Amino acid sequence: MRFLLSFLMVLSFTHGVFSLPGSLKSQLKGRSFKVERVRRGNDLIHGPTALRKAYEKFSIIPMNLGIDLDDFEPITTNHVAGSKDDTSSADQKGAVSAASVQGDAAFVSPVTIGGQKIVLNFDTGSADFWVMSTLLPEAARQGHTVYNPSISSTYKKMEGATFNISYGDASYAYGGVGTDTVDIGGAVIQNQAIGVPDTVSSAFIEDTTSNGLVGLGFSSLNTVTPKQQKTFFENIADSLQEPIMTATLKADGVGEYEFGILDHDKYQGDIANVSVDSSNGFWQFELGHFAVADGSVQHIKKNPIAIADTGTSLMLLNQEVVDAYYAEVHGAIYASGAGGYVYPCNISLPSLSVAVGSKHLATVPGNLIDFSEVGINKTTGGKVCFGGIQSNQGSSMQILGDVFLKAFFVIFDLRGPSLGIANPK
Ligand SMILES: *[C@@H]1O[C@H](CO)[C@@H](O)[C@H](O)[C@H]1NC(C)=O
Ligand SMILES: *[C@@H]1O[C@H](CO)[C@@H](O)[C@H](O)[C@H]1NC(C)=O
Ligand SMILES: *[C@@H]1O[C@H](CO)[C@@H](O)[C@H](O)[C@H]1NC(C)=O
Ligand SMILES: *[C@@H]1O[C@H](CO)[C@@H](O)[C@H](O)[C@H]1NC(C)=O
Repeated sequence: MRFLLSFLMVLSFTHGVFSLPGSLKSQLKGRSFKVERVRRGNDLIHGPTALRKAYEKFSIIPMNLGIDLDDFEPITTNHVAGSKDDTSSADQKGAVSAASVQGDAAFVSPVTIGGQKIVLNFDTGSADFWVMSTLLPEAARQGHTVYNPSISSTYKKMEGATFNISYGDASYAYGGVGTDTVDIGGAVIQNQAIGVPDTVSSAFIEDTTSNGLVGLGFSSLNTVTPKQQKTFFENIADSLQEPIMTATLKADGVGEYEFGILDHDKYQGDIANVSVDSSNGFWQFELGHFAVADGSVQHIKKNPIAIADTGTSLMLLNQEVVDAYYAEVHGAIYASGAGGYVYPCNISLPSLSVAVGSKHLATVPGNLIDFSEVGINKTTGGKVCFGGIQSNQGSSMQILGDVFLKAFFVIFDLRGPSLGIANPK
């Protein structure tokens, strides 16, 4: 497999040689742009809430599959809002909603817009760049660091343009659009389209640890009308030595996104490079096989595709995969009270391997799948945990969020486009 690595280096070299060096390009070439990714606040992420948010983002309607068990006492996190008006069927006694967990993402990164530093979520599962601003009503801005376009000398309003992004029914943002200079870790784009909402849902208002999103999907998902706008990544790609963004998302919460170069110090072994189907706007690829621990490799028959989404916490897989996984977890049950699979916290979870493309098996260790405590078993008094792998409820795709991404060094490559997955160092 060393062969694969050498082959890749030749490719990057020839790419550099044949590219036309524009002035910006020669400035940026050979440089890389890193931006840290940090865990927001000290709050636990509540598993069932993360699941509900992911369902909302992808408009998945959860079915009630399990028996509603009365034998566990849910624990809640201290920032829980417990929205009573929640209509989601997954929202029952066990799943106290933490409305403050925006879009289900657990991590944020600093971005500079028109000279103003603001903390945003990086989301490869959407394609709008939007930020909370002084255009929002005072009450909506409480506790947020907002962007003030009126004091930015580089801001220009995009006349007649609007954006409207919704993550299911419960969270949304809409309003006008402008352009400004955006700096992410030193990579600068002068006329980045930025949504400056005048309305955002309460989920975004209550979540004071983030102030907006940097969409890093493909611009076919961009919601700006009358003309769709490019993402930051698409805009900067031509100026970079290599049109790549790499994600090193660590289990301890810290992490890093890097634009422009492949840092060989961040991974070991070979890179599994799979082609991406961007026709739906996602970083979507073939995922047609799986294995639990060292069990046999099984075929996924229906919709054997997945997307890599930095804006989702959990790993949502086809029901058959999820059922096969928890069949190997002693004491695991589907608890409709939590909206998903739970198990006693004192066991250790098996690993799950999924095929990235047709050949490479990518193994997620059990400790990364162990997601959060959700309650106490009333019968045994033992802690009940919520799994990081849950059902995609028959959705047309599987969604690989942080639980998966943390296990790897991931390369989002606009050539192809393609996705590279390697073991982190
Ligand atoms: C935004 O989009 C949603 C659905 O995608 C729609 O229901 C809503 O009316 C739109 N809002 C505006 C202000 O255009
Ligand atoms: C609680 O423990 C009992 C006895 O081991 C078990 O049957 C039940 O499934 C557990 N419930 C949960 C929610 O883990
Ligand atoms: C886990 O906790 C339960 C309930 O307290 C107990 O019955 C069981 O023996 C424990 N299992 C292990 C592997 O420690
Ligand atoms: C992955 O493959 C594509 C072509 O399929 C190639 O352009 C790209 O350079 C490769 N990515 C990496 C990181 O080697």
